[in-house]
Amino acid sequence: MIKKRILIIGSNGMLGQRLANYYNELPNVELLCTSLEDESYMPKLQYAKLNLQNKQEIKKTIGNFYPDIIINSAAYTNVDKSESERELAWNINVTAVEHIAQAAKAFDSHVIHISSDYIFDGLNGPYSEADKPNPIGYYGRTKLASENALKTSGVDNTIIRTNVLYGIAKYGRPDFVKWVVDSLSSGREINIVNDQINNPTFTDDLVAAINKIGEFKKLGVYNIGGPEFLSRFEFTIKIAGWFNLDKKLIKQIKTAELNQPAARPLKSGLITLKAESEIGYKPMPIEDTFRIMKNEIFK
Ligand SMILES: NC(=O)c1ccc[n+]([C@@H]2O[C@H](COP(=O)([O-])OP(=O)(O)OC[C@H]3O[C@@H](n4cnc5c(N)ncnc54)[C@H](OP(=O)(O)O)[C@@H]3O)[C@@H](O)[C@H]2O)c1
Repeated sequence: MIKKRILIIGSNGMLGQRLANYYNELPNVELLCTSLEDESYMPKLQYAKLNLQNKQEIKKTIGNFYPDIIINSAAYTNVDKSESERELAWNINVTAVEHIAQAAKAFDSHVIHISSDYIFDGLNGPYSEADKPNPIGYYGRTKLASENALKTSGVDNTIIRTNVLYGIAKYGRPDFVKWVVDSLSSGREINIVNDQINNPTFTDDLVAAINKIGEFKKLGVYNIGGPEFLSRFEFTIKIAGWFNLDKKLIKQIKTAELNQPAARPLKSGLITLKAESEIGYKPMPIEDTFRIMKNEIFK
């Protein structure tokens, strides 16, 4: 059996963990996982440390493994800190992507890169793949620049835009759903914005879409999001309802009240019709995703 060689960059991250978990189970895949830390969160993986700020390390890792597919789920993801740590955010989110593309081209690898709805201004979402980007924060600017770097690199590439990821993340920081459940279960009041609209994306739906895109070698831009468009407040109410928690602890606020360093796109979200028709993308109903999370992490 000829195995597909898949390199996951950022395998310790929230999405990266689920990708690693998924591909590790497939018999026809030779997997190499990389992240910034010395070790993988998940034991028994073929793992190498890869610092994306080091061009030679990128070249060497790709050159030694010669992957068929490279999935880049690594990024500098702190939206607020991106405003003050601009050089670092640019190095990881843009320069590293240029270096990945350069090295990948030499081996005819297919690069699948994860981007964000933060490339849009959030004035009139939800957005299709054809809508014009206009980032309002530095993080969004780096993500848009990463897309452009790939598009002009000449490497076979797919850009997957997603928004508000949630799901099973056994290691690292808790995802939004776990944070809400943990907070409400311990009787803590939480302030949630009611003016940011998205279609929250279950990481396992995104993983399934990435796998299809790799399998059928679909190139170009694809939106991947959840089945429902709702405000963060409405999403939180849904979580509380399903997990039987006290909704009175959830206080509504406006984004502006948070005084965050970075502006947020408010009326956002991603239309997924292209992925639905071209790769048969079908996100799970939100309630089903909560059930899966309950079985896996709230046992
Ligand atoms: N989370 C969301 O709601 C969301 C929404 C839209 C788009 N996205 C995009 O989806 C992708 C995955 O997001 P995520 O939430 O899974 O991110 P995350 O949990 O913050 O993980 C990011 C990963 O990047 C790695 N990384 C950071 N700096 C690095 C460096 N210098 N060298 C090598 N690796 C480095 C981290 O490695 P270590 O863990 O080893 O330090 C980590 O594994 C990103 O491209 C993000 O922009 C996320």
